[in-house]
Amino acid sequence: MTPEQAKQLVAEAAIEYIEWDWVVGVGTGSTANLFIDELAKMKNNIEGTVASSEASAERLRGHGIKVFELDQVGDLPIYVDGADESTKHLHLIKGGGAALTREKIVAAASEKFICIADDSKLVDTLGAFPLPVEVIPMSKSYVARQLVKLGGNPVFREGVVTDSGNYILDVHDLKITNPVELEREINQLAGVVTNGLFAQRGADVLLLGGKDGVTKITA
Ligand code: 5RP
Repeated sequence: MTPEQAKQLVAEAAIEYIEWDWVVGVGTGSTANLFIDELAKMKNNIEGTVASSEASAERLRGHGIKVFELDQVGDLPIYVDGADESTKHLHLIKGGGAALTREKIVAAASEKFICIADDSKLVDTLGAFPLPVEVIPMSKSYVARQLVKLGGNPVFREGVVTDSGNYILDVHDLKITNPVELEREINQLAGVVTNGLFAQRGADVLLLGGKDGVTKITA
């Protein structure tokens, strides 16, 4: 089975969690895109969506699905998104698509976070995937120096400006044994908007696609 087929399986499985008339939080990336395409098939049964990026909002609108601002709708019943890495404890690294801040906001505002991924994303320890950190532009070098003190090797993501007008540092060589603590520590650095660890608010359900179908891990 290809990763693409595995992603398709979990995109379809996530649809089972969607109830009538809900406003659905929708994430960003290739797996979230497949979920958007599945959601389009039931678009007349939902109230609409809140998107975690301009790219996802555009894809949703392309299908004729209503996209609300989060402020218009308040808390959401559900958020569906992919991840770059996950542990069995449902701690995640996200932000490979540079949408981490909006993703974290929508996840925080949602009662249930369903994470969908192909099973290559399941790891014992987070950190082989470089941890994205979104920073206010003027703080880039300062934050990079602090990240070195924390044991990482930050690399500026060239040519990328986030939907909120900020920069991304990708932090290599971290072996993240305490994701809750590291998430807090990095977020406290002046100039950091947020980092791609989703540990304080991890996923509630992880759906992994692989050769044996969909495996579900819950909190
Ligand atoms: C975007 C994300 C994505 O969820 C993450 O990068 C996974 O992407 P894909 O589904 O393409 O593997 O966090 O910021």
